[in-house]
Amino acid sequence: MKPVKKVVFPVAGLGTRMLPATKVLPKEMLPVVDKPIIQYALEEAAAAGCEEFIFVTGRGKAIIEDHFDRAVELFEALAAKNKDEQLEKMTADVPKAGQVLYTRQQEAKGLGHAVWCARRLIEDEVFAVVLVDDLIHSEVPCLAQMIEAQQRTGGNLVAVMEVAKEHTSRYGIVEPGAEEGRLVEVKSLVEKPDPAVAPSRYAVIGRYLLDAAVFDHLDRHEVGAGGEIQLTDAMQRLIGSQPFHGFRFEGQRYDCGDKLGYLEAIVATALARPDLGADFRAVLERYRD
Ligand code: UTP
Repeated sequence: MKPVKKVVFPVAGLGTRMLPATKVLPKEMLPVVDKPIIQYALEEAAAAGCEEFIFVTGRGKAIIEDHFDRAVELFEALAAKNKDEQLEKMTADVPKAGQVLYTRQQEAKGLGHAVWCARRLIEDEVFAVVLVDDLIHSEVPCLAQMIEAQQRTGGNLVAVMEVAKEHTSRYGIVEPGAEEGRLVEVKSLVEKPDPAVAPSRYAVIGRYLLDAAVFDHLDRHEVGAGGEIQLTDAMQRLIGSQPFHGFRFEGQRYDCGDKLGYLEAIVATALARPDLGADFRAVLERYRD
């Protein structure tokens, strides 16, 4: 089984739930403590062994490219002030030349369409898709857990977590088959089902390992739930012809695309930081009822 080396980050969405912060600033550049959300995602993918980072961007997202480039004047200023530690960290954070690729989704037609925009950068291989909004705290990076599991199952593997019954209409939901350890066989997928008809509480969240055959189905440009080209619909068409599993990852997921989820991500990340945790806990104590 070939290891997964390429990861696609679809970052062309409009981020309407976070307006007006996202009117000019891409939602992926919002900070969680002192790092943009997108950097956590790239670090997770790099820690999982990915070597090619493919961003599907859109208009107004150019600062994402700047963020992953050298900031020459800033680096010189840090050097002049002997801020060596910061300079070293900032330099290490910049991916190597040629490791980052960008393509554009000209119109936000849905997640499926965004992934399809990366089709020419993927060969006949399994690749990862990471939705930057989903920040995951875990012992082993979520994508690394998944790649390790996919080496055993082959085929497609998507991260799943149990959600409250009343929230099924927010996610792609799995119709589960046999379960073994953290693996759940996927019999079918339904996009945003009403709780009354949802086949389970297993929701697909923003980590996917997909066979390039998914592009054969995305090529149809079929419009699904919400008038968007849905990744879920294309994945559904792979089921039956290829292995398809859900993976109950170890870790805690925060939805940074939503105001409350974003706030919780900041609190959890700050509390977990060795340099900030204790002091921040003391600050939070002041807000107890
Ligand atoms: P969301 O459903 O969170 O949509 O997309 P959004 O537009 O980013 O945010 P809201 O709902 O308006 O607040 C999930 C992921 O898919 C990407 C988004 O950038 C996000 O990472 N996406 C979505 C695209 O790249 N293109 C699209 O057409 C839609």
